[in-house]
Amino acid sequence: MPYTAHPDRYKRMQYRRCGNSGLQLPVLSLGLWHNFGHVDMFGNYRSILQLAFDNGVTHFDLANNYGPPPGSAEENFGRLLKLDFAPYRDELIISTKAGHYMWPGPYGDWGSKKYLVASLDQSLTRMGLEYVDIFYHHRPDPQTPLEETMAALDLIVRQGKALYVGISNYQKEEAAKAFGILRQLGTPCVIHQPKYSMFERWVEDGLLDTLENDGVGCIPFSPLAQGLLTNKYLGGIPADSRAAKPHGFLKEEQVTAERIGQVKALSQVADKRGQTLAQMALAWLLKDKRVTSVLIGASKPAQLADSLRCQDNINFSAEELATIETILT
Ligand SMILES: NC(=O)c1ccc[n+]([C@@H]2O[C@H](COP(=O)([O-])OP(=O)(O)OC[C@H]3O[C@@H](n4cnc5c(N)ncnc54)[C@H](OP(=O)(O)O)[C@@H]3O)[C@@H](O)[C@H]2O)c1
Repeated sequence: MPYTAHPDRYKRMQYRRCGNSGLQLPVLSLGLWHNFGHVDMFGNYRSILQLAFDNGVTHFDLANNYGPPPGSAEENFGRLLKLDFAPYRDELIISTKAGHYMWPGPYGDWGSKKYLVASLDQSLTRMGLEYVDIFYHHRPDPQTPLEETMAALDLIVRQGKALYVGISNYQKEEAAKAFGILRQLGTPCVIHQPKYSMFERWVEDGLLDTLENDGVGCIPFSPLAQGLLTNKYLGGIPADSRAAKPHGFLKEEQVTAERIGQVKALSQVADKRGQTLAQMALAWLLKDKRVTSVLIGASKPAQLADSLRCQDNINFSAEELATIETILT
């Protein structure tokens, strides 16, 4: 049966403007870092993608190295674009990135113009696309002049291979410099992708203010701290969880007794709000209007269905916020 998207999908999702740009993003976007590689089950990730789009998730986030093996998430996404989403290409915001190791030699890593341009060409081939909607520099490169990396982003847009550009994992000072260079080049940065969750709050120390001042959107990644901010690890490490998988980036040693203590306490706050902990953790990020979209992952359709319902309540009382702060500090 060919896939037909749900007719009510745009009634099921809220959208926010990305900084000062013309681009609107769903408040929840789906990332393909884990669970979409050749090691994963085609039927499962196909269902996740369909469920996402049926619920108005128009934005899918990739990178050259997502898998494993690296590149396979883009290949699998490309296959599903052809099978299911070809009629919907103009309803989708597809992003990819380069900045981490991808191939041997001096041109397969970091931030040179040589690497970024070649890597995006490879990504486009893997996904079967003519252009991506957003292309990111994945992490700052201490060796390459920022001017060169930003000029590469500008070039890629002028070549028609990306519509918008973003940066990821840049600290506030280098982010501000990058925004200035891109503005001068005529390709303003539309989005910054930092790690941000209840357990990871460095962005509150100036980055969010910088983004607001520069009119740049914010899309926090790992908002559930890779699954820690859910109820899944309360009774130990489940066999099918990220922490149990050899290729998972969440390591068993990160599931500490202290973390689990905090998770239990947060879970009780979520209960009182009538939410799951995952829903509350996502809502907690969305309470800040400077957050354009929250970039989630999911290993099962049921997790995505759960997370989507965070939209039902993204308001917090002062008392709830104070209780959460006490738990986190
Ligand atoms: N720019 C960067 O440097 C960078 C780095 C990392 C990630 N990212 C982007 O951010 C995206 C999201 O990252 P992430 O996958 O770490 O996000 P996350 O949402 O913090 O974690 C996703 C994991 O949490 C668990 N989960 C999700 N929803 C759940 C629910 N409702 N109930 C219970 N468990 C739930 C699942 O774990 P199990 O697999 O254990 O079931 C899932 O795989 C990535 O796909 C990628 O696009 C970017």
